[in-house]
Amino acid sequence: MDMATAESQGSDWVRIFDTTLRDGEQSPGCTMNVEEKLALARQLERLNVDIIEAGFAASSEGDFESVNRVAQSVKGPLVLSLSRTRDEDVDRALKSVDKSTRPGIHIFIATSDIHLKYKLNMNREDVLDAATWAVTRAKKHLDYIEFSCEDASRSEWEYMAKVCAEVIRAGATVINLPDTTGHAIPEEYGRMFAYMREHVPGAGKVIWSAHCHNDLGLAVANSLAAIGNGARQIECTINGIGERAGNCSMEEVVMALKTRKDLMGIQTRVDTRQIYPSSRLLSQIIGQSVPANKPIVGDNAFAHEAGIHQDGVLKYKLTYEIMKPEDIGIPSNKLVLGKHSGRHAFINRLKELGVDTDAVDLNSAFAEFKALCDKKKVVYDDDILALVTEEARRTSDEIELVDMRCSSSSKETPHAVVTLRVNGEEHSADGEGDGMVDACYQAIYKIAGVHPALERYAVKAITGGTDALGEVSCLVRDNGMTVAGQGAHSDIVMASALALVNALNRLKSRKEAPLKPTTDVP
Ligand code: KIV
Ligand code: ZN
Repeated sequence: MDMATAESQGSDWVRIFDTTLRDGEQSPGCTMNVEEKLALARQLERLNVDIIEAGFAASSEGDFESVNRVAQSVKGPLVLSLSRTRDEDVDRALKSVDKSTRPGIHIFIATSDIHLKYKLNMNREDVLDAATWAVTRAKKHLDYIEFSCEDASRSEWEYMAKVCAEVIRAGATVINLPDTTGHAIPEEYGRMFAYMREHVPGAGKVIWSAHCHNDLGLAVANSLAAIGNGARQIECTINGIGERAGNCSMEEVVMALKTRKDLMGIQTRVDTRQIYPSSRLLSQIIGQSVPANKPIVGDNAFAHEAGIHQDGVLKYKLTYEIMKPEDIGIPSNKLVLGKHSGRHAFINRLKELGVDTDAVDLNSAFAEFKALCDKKKVVYDDDILALVTEEARRTSDEIELVDMRCSSSSKETPHAVVTLRVNGEEHSADGEGDGMVDACYQAIYKIAGVHPALERYAVKAITGGTDALGEVSCLVRDNGMTVAGQGAHSDIVMASALALVNALNRLKSRKEAPLKPTTDVP
């Protein structure tokens, strides 16, 4: 009996299908380059997710390359590419994963009347044929085929059951029923799974999967309802990123299952101690900090402010804590290393924090760490993580910040002189602005020869104190393309310059590998 069959017959294991690199990456400001996707995929491997959806190979050259590189690099989890039911999509998806040790393809087409009529301009028979045809074609080359009925939660059940039956007959091994628009409520979404498992011929041969969007804040609740009705795969993203209000949050659904195993009796294979490092890594890469009140990984998730709570926790932690921070891999944020720490201790700490030390220039990172120790009295885990991510960012950039001088006084307009290295050549320019950051940005725009709109700019002190590392994230838009940039430094103006340079590098690489228009991308 293969894994799929065994699991569909009442096992208490649920698979975690991570779509951070596909559905997550699709949301504005969350784009990642190939190196960043690889770093995240390696972290997903450490997290021990079962499946990684690495991208949508046919959507762009960049996506094809990312899926292909992730497929070659990742050994544990299955690696999938998304695909529409078109022949060129299926072929691209198959090719993108052909070097994987555990390849798979994820084919989808909408089954709701509203999508058929207004988006696809197809009738029900056409959709049934397209779905069966695409699965049959893929099955000739690959065994592992997931099929999704897009907008399942607004589809007519009887018709959808027919589509599911046909694609199972054609060789699909997993059937996903997405709540594409985040419209379902738990009881209703659960009932849909119960109905399909009862009415679809061959239902017992496949894994049933839930894929929920969070428009009504119900993605995790809906996913749990699906599990309660026989689903054995959950599609989710780190920090819940994704289209609109996001996808089901990996950390929330995994910890809900772990914490309430007494009630649900379901387990995942996720190494929960890698949850926090995964959340931090993603947030560093896309430059979107996690809200403080976000369950599981937010800064306040384990903070107790009220006197009664503090008193209770001091007497016995479980009075107010239902999970242990150490189970999620949350560093205690105490002083970890200082100026007398050696290289060995530094590398060890990086490993404990979930950093892939093979992907980091350790000499340079250690030198930066020592420089930080000279500037800061105490160096926290988060400082170290920010520093290493900053280091990785710079080594892959074509535009580098070489020098920056700024002056500001209450009587003069702020002025900056910036030197950048662009493709190995140094260029300097000066700029004036409303403040030092603005002056510095004007100088950078002059050298780079672009002037994108600055849509968002945010500063965050990573750890406490006036000597803390500052983390700046910005979102810039040029020619219809939006990219995020991040920078970390103990000087806020410097961190701002690094963030803009990072965004310009991304903008440059996106322009070199533009997205093909894909009007019906889910
Ligand atoms: O939300 C959705 O329907 C999707 C499918 C492609 C699975 O992302
Ligand atoms: Zn989705």
